[in-house]
Amino acid sequence: MPASRQVITPSWYPPVVEQADWTSWFGNGRAAEVLDIGSGRGTFLLHHALTFPNINILGIEVRRMLTTYTNEVIRGEGIANAFALWYTMANGLPWIAEGSIRYATYLFPDPWPKKRHAKRRAFTSAFLDEVRRVLIPGGCLYLATDRPDVDAYQREVLSAHAGFRIVDREAWPFPFRTDQQMFCDRKAIPYVQYMAVAT
Ligand SMILES: C[S@@+](CC[C@H](N)C(=O)[O-])C[C@H]1O[C@@H](n2cnc3c(N)ncnc32)[C@H](O)[C@@H]1O
Repeated sequence: MPASRQVITPSWYPPVVEQADWTSWFGNGRAAEVLDIGSGRGTFLLHHALTFPNINILGIEVRRMLTTYTNEVIRGEGIANAFALWYTMANGLPWIAEGSIRYATYLFPDPWPKKRHAKRRAFTSAFLDEVRRVLIPGGCLYLATDRPDVDAYQREVLSAHAGFRIVDREAWPFPFRTDQQMFCDRKAIPYVQYMAVAT
């Protein structure tokens, strides 16, 4: 839920960001160029940053414990181009400049399978408005899920959005995996990976 709709803000609610603090978030002081939305424990974020040391990758994660863990690894390993921000996508990305992000990943989101919980899904038309606004023209949103219901829901929201075109057939560009992806591979659980291009 966005902060503006909270009557009483619980202690676990992530801070609202007014302005990006790139110089303290990234060891190299530069702004983010890639977003990993729902970065979880950060395995994908860390490998992503190590593979592309010239690109700044910002993880956005609503669970504080996970960002603390990820940032401890980042500090310990001296990785200058990664940071995990404790933040909820429910508050949008107003602190990121329009057209400044090369691509974003949204991999294995929480499924919220029960109908009464579907409103908790972060993936909405407003979410896509924000991602579209910050992407460069032709920038991509990469998606993955092992849940057919989530896949169908996301494709429906994407198809209804004028700012994106779904592309199914491109090769997946990431040679490293997320934690959930590794779990699926271990258990032979199928999943889909595809992208939506900003039109
Ligand atoms: C199932 S996990 C997947 C994590 C990782 N992407 C992976 O594939 O292993 C989904 C993550 O999204 C985070 N998340 C859920 N809602 C969010 C929101 N509104 N803003 C930011 N992160 C969120 C959850 O806390 C969780 O860590």
